[in-house]
Amino acid sequence: MQPTSPRSSRIIGTGRCLPSRVLTNFDLEKMVETTDEWITTRTGIHERRIAADNEACSDISVAAAKEALAMAKLDAKDLDGIIIGTISGDMLFPATATLVQDRLGAVNAAAMDVSAACSGFIYGLTLANAMIVSGQMNRVLVIGSEVLSKFVDWSDRATCVLFGDAAGAAVLEGCPAGEGLLATHVKSDGSLAELLCIPGGGSRQPLGPTTYLEHSHYIKMKGDGVFKWAVRAMVDAAKTVLDETGHSLADVSLVIPHQANIRIIDAVVERLEIPRERVVVNLDRYGNTSSATIPVAYDEVVREGRLEPGDLVLFTGFGAGFTWGSVLFRHSISL
Ligand code: ACO
Repeated sequence: MQPTSPRSSRIIGTGRCLPSRVLTNFDLEKMVETTDEWITTRTGIHERRIAADNEACSDISVAAAKEALAMAKLDAKDLDGIIIGTISGDMLFPATATLVQDRLGAVNAAAMDVSAACSGFIYGLTLANAMIVSGQMNRVLVIGSEVLSKFVDWSDRATCVLFGDAAGAAVLEGCPAGEGLLATHVKSDGSLAELLCIPGGGSRQPLGPTTYLEHSHYIKMKGDGVFKWAVRAMVDAAKTVLDETGHSLADVSLVIPHQANIRIIDAVVERLEIPRERVVVNLDRYGNTSSATIPVAYDEVVREGRLEPGDLVLFTGFGAGFTWGSVLFRHSISL
């Protein structure tokens, strides 16, 4: 929704963490019946990062958060809140955000996770912005962080080639309306939940011999259904925030779409008629890192100096649930 309050929030620092281990399409050729050619033409992905055996969601979240706090020139004690969009946290509970809070020493922050799959960062930004606009918080750390490699069925070629591990972070701070975030929009449709889910290991199908034998504790996906919905949802969400603010795509300097598949991005770009040079793509190097794709890509363009303060940036994404949403904002970081 477009803010009606005199207050808004802006991003004052960003960071990212990519695990060091690289898994290429050629490596995957040795693991399942697939080819570099199939993966590249169907998805656009060449390689992805995979967390070490002892590396968990909180580890990469903390690393990304430290970079974001350093750029924002803030101490962790300055934070009022920490929100992590994740579906691959360290444990079923407590929230990974609480573990990150402890390790950062963010003693004044309330901490929570948001489960919105690949839309987790957009949902997190939306919640953080609402907390700031309402006056309950002033500085909130939002992280998108996933270690999906530990939830992927490495014998299922239809899904194991798609995902990678990463964390991206952003620090939000209160600002006058008209600066920073101009509009946020989030939606969901739970009737589509079964198209993309981990059915086992929850309270519906608790972990046990059956879930284990059926591999139902791993990601299950009906790829074609996801594809169609993803395009429609990302286009609709992007149009909504543009319409609400009276902006057109011609005003937008960079569009950062969720990085699931290059053909999904191509279809979104075609429908929205966005000039290709204004669309950020990095999925060739990282694959689909779910809630981390957008903050990682934003951190990359920020550090590459591709944006000037005041430039309009559009995030648009979708994820399991289904969930989807967009954020339109003025870039506020000057390095
Ligand atoms: N290597 C080789 N062949 C494969 C592979 C693979 N890795 N995976 C599937 N195939 C085969 C299938 O078995 C099938 O063979 P068949 O015709 O003999 O049955 C054939 O390739 C075609 O399979 P499709 O599923 O129809 O392939 P499609 O062109 O639809 O591409 C894909 C599959 C890439 C998953 C596509 O549907 C897609 O991108 N969907 C979007 C889903 C997505 O991006 N999900 C992750 C994101 S979810 C999120 O971010 C929230």
